[in-house]
Amino acid sequence: MIDLHAHILPGIDDGPSTLGEARDLLKAAATAGTTHIVATPHMNPAQFPNTQAGICQVFNATRVELEQASGIRLAVSAEVRVGLDTVELVERDEIPWLGEYDGQPVMLVEFPHTHLPTEAVNVVRWLVTRGIVPLIAHPERNREIMNNYKRLRELADLGCLFQLTAAAMVGGFGPIAQQVGRRMVEDKLVYALASDTHNTRFRPPALGPGGRVIEKMIGSSRVSDLVFDNPWRIVAPLFEAPAIDLVV
Ligand SMILES: [Fe+2]
Repeated sequence: MIDLHAHILPGIDDGPSTLGEARDLLKAAATAGTTHIVATPHMNPAQFPNTQAGICQVFNATRVELEQASGIRLAVSAEVRVGLDTVELVERDEIPWLGEYDGQPVMLVEFPHTHLPTEAVNVVRWLVTRGIVPLIAHPERNREIMNNYKRLRELADLGCLFQLTAAAMVGGFGPIAQQVGRRMVEDKLVYALASDTHNTRFRPPALGPGGRVIEKMIGSSRVSDLVFDNPWRIVAPLFEAPAIDLVV
């Protein structure tokens, strides 16, 4: 399986603190059947002010050891907290894209969990006008969407894709997130299932348990789209690029 949203790089955000923890996390992912992971550390100026250069530095310093320890192939991108500064980052070409969708760059976009700020939605609209495809991380956990599902439809109409978190489908983020996740699956609004893993204990890397819930809903071939075909369609260029391209 291909996991396009995971916090697996050490000491860079609220994922693993040490290389040893990162190694354990990746070994757990391998045991759970994941073969490819895109490391997506937070880029959030208020909390985790990571830059493209800093992220790539950590990735390049740890990649070989983490791949060898786990057998998982790794690539790097970021989970971008969308705000006005995102515009500047795009203008300066300092976004680590998640890959491509129909030839257009894809950004893994995070909103605050509490609501959808108008300003942030306007930036998402701007991204679309610039030919960038927003892949919205875990909308099922956004309180405004939990309270008003129409907001998700509005984002879909803008041209956003959606990433559902596997643990949400087994109740890991409470019953409302689970219900919203189920509704997204029923409405065919999920583009990819991902782990958004942070650690082995509370935010584990397994896609299987959530995938099996979805399988019961829509069948195995469509679950396969969510954990293989669709994510690969976006992230393949990251894995096919020579490593030197990742050095900034
Ligand atoms: Fe995340």
